Amino acid sequence: MKVAVLGAAGGIGQALSLLLKTGLPAGSELSLYDVAPVVPGVAVDLSHIPTDVKVAGFGADALDQALTGCDIVLIPAGMPRKPGMDRADLFNVNAGIIKTLAEGIAANCPTAFVGIITNPVNGTVPIVAEVFKKSGTYDAKRVFGITTLDVIRSEAFVAELKGVDVATVKVPVIGGHSGTTILPLLSQVEGVSFTDEEVAALTPRIQNAGTEVVNAKAGGGSATLSMGAAAARFCMSLVKGLQGEDVVDYAYVAVENGDAEYFAHPVRLGKNGVEEILSYGELSAFELQAKNDMLDTLKKDIQEGVDFINA
Ligand code: NAD
Ligand code: LMR
Repeated sequence: MKVAVLGAAGGIGQALSLLLKTGLPAGSELSLYDVAPVVPGVAVDLSHIPTDVKVAGFGADALDQALTGCDIVLIPAGMPRKPGMDRADLFNVNAGIIKTLAEGIAANCPTAFVGIITNPVNGTVPIVAEVFKKSGTYDAKRVFGITTLDVIRSEAFVAELKGVDVATVKVPVIGGHSGTTILPLLSQVEGVSFTDEEVAALTPRIQNAGTEVVNAKAGGGSATLSMGAAAARFCMSLVKGLQGEDVVDYAYVAVENGDAEYFAHPVRLGKNGVEEILSYGELSAFELQAKNDMLDTLKKDIQEGVDFINA
């Protein structure tokens, strides 16, 4: 298993790389790429951890070498938010970064599974897909927007609110990854029930959890450690799928005849990536209304990504 982290010297990149160095199956390789000159040092640092995962660092002019032969590519490269910004405010800076990295993937490891973390995820995933379409390498089954942070936050918040063992909590989260496009399905959480008031308070807390971190870091960036944990968890689902295990996880993927061109769904993962897009099931009246209310925003975010490549 060869896994690349693009943006590996950043806040998410370093946390994620640490978790992959200690969590990938024995015999794996970790390829760390960043334009920041510290990246070879991050690789040397990690290489002193005694696990059977080889680490190599690649600087600005070595994207091709970093990507050659990769099975999985995870992308946390790009600028994070500061207080007062929306994720959409990052589009102008991050769209070009994502385009360049996607072109590198198309040229060097066109069959890799690609997990996109860079914001705004609602628009960066379509950018990657459009680059792949242009280069003739697109396979919708292998492109994922990583929305796992919304899932793990929901698990943490529900366990805290209800005083239950967090290891037993599963919360489906569908839609996109920004504000109201993040839609936790609290009506489907097994073993606990919520009053209307709890749903009305917990839903926006989950939707605004990124802003909670941005404000708490007071200009020092956005979620990095929880995102590192989320991306590592999603990567392990992809690894299990590649190894032939049947695994279901949530991700923002291309959907035919769905609510929008891209939408976070439960997906069955396997050797080909998305083996099946599963239904998110029945929504409560509150969730149905919230879904209908956010679709225009999500579709606009998606179109911005598509237009960035095609306009
Ligand atoms: P950071 O500034 O700490 O790290 C970003 C890294 O990207 C830096 O090391 C930088 O050198 C590198 N970089 C910039 N341009 C590059 C390029 N062209 N090629 C390779 N590397 C490049 O930021 P961070 O906190 O790690 O956040 C990174 C991104 O992840 C942001 O866009 C942020 O909004 C997003 N994010 C997404 C989620 C999510 O749930 N999907 C969660 C948290 C953060
Ligand atoms: C998050 O949800 O924490 C990330 O998308 C980062 C952000 O800007 O909120």
